[in-house]
Amino acid sequence: MADLDRDVDRQDEVPLVGDGVTQGIVRVGDTVRRPVRPFTMTIQAYLAHLRAAGFEGAPIPLGLDDQGREMLSFVPGDVPREPLPPDTAGEEVLVELARLIRRLHDAAQGWTPPADATWGGIPGTQGASSTPDDEPPVVSHRDYCPGNVVFRDGLPAALIDFDLAKPTTRIYDIANAVYYWAPLLHPKDRSPAFADLDIPHRVAVFADAYGMNAGQRHALIPLATTMIHRFHVNMRAAAEIDPVFKRFWDEGVKDRLPRAEAWIHDEGPAITARLTAGP
Ligand SMILES: Nc1ncnc2c1ncn2[C@@H]1O[C@H](COP(=O)(O)OP(=O)(O)O)[C@@H](O)[C@H]1O
Ligand SMILES: [Mg+2]
Repeated sequence: MADLDRDVDRQDEVPLVGDGVTQGIVRVGDTVRRPVRPFTMTIQAYLAHLRAAGFEGAPIPLGLDDQGREMLSFVPGDVPREPLPPDTAGEEVLVELARLIRRLHDAAQGWTPPADATWGGIPGTQGASSTPDDEPPVVSHRDYCPGNVVFRDGLPAALIDFDLAKPTTRIYDIANAVYYWAPLLHPKDRSPAFADLDIPHRVAVFADAYGMNAGQRHALIPLATTMIHRFHVNMRAAAEIDPVFKRFWDEGVKDRLPRAEAWIHDEGPAITARLTAGP
């Protein structure tokens, strides 16, 4: 009987595949099981804090299952895939994402990580610290790629995959979100529905919806420029040691990131001008 029960359990496991970084993610009923990594319990503590602080746009941490896997609530909704569908290119999507991230930051601001906190990172970058700026640290998501945003009724409703969460600053976190969703990419590297959009306007829409202050508006593009450069350096290094990142690199990252660096060098001043213009 015990063997039979186990077989039945296994049949109930539905594999979940996103961007292909994490192997072995499955859905079991209303839960998701993920492999345990060194940072898993730190992230579970963080997610518990977010819930306690009233933030509902993240999975509920449920500890470990009887196979020693991380257990989280399954977040209902749709996760968009590249190329992004046209209805994800509307301004209301940016507005809702900015509000969601603002609520995340406000909920996270009060949390001090435990002394033994352990954080994740892309291969080869563990322990690398962000460039400091004038804002207080906050633990946040740091990876707003489409595969990590759950939509409901056509709008961003929740964030999943906190594998890259660690202490950062609001402005760095915002730079990551607008990189993916404005996006801060050369038009030929965007999903077709995003190719002709007015990026300075879209960044300003995000800034208004988040409630970015004057200092954040001035700092965003210089910081995003540094961030994109770091993406390029880090992805090149990760590709040398990790087969999944080697595939990402070969399949387009190696061209996309240098193009994004050149693009933001040319277009960044117009974005900053739009962001910092009076009402
Ligand atoms: N808690 C969750 N609720 C709903 N869907 C999830 C959840 N966790 C993962 N998924 C689904 O599985 C995919 C891959 O999971 P993710 O945690 O993003 O792994 P990866 O590290 O491979 O990006 C996601 O894009 C999403 O579709
Ligand atoms: Mg993911």
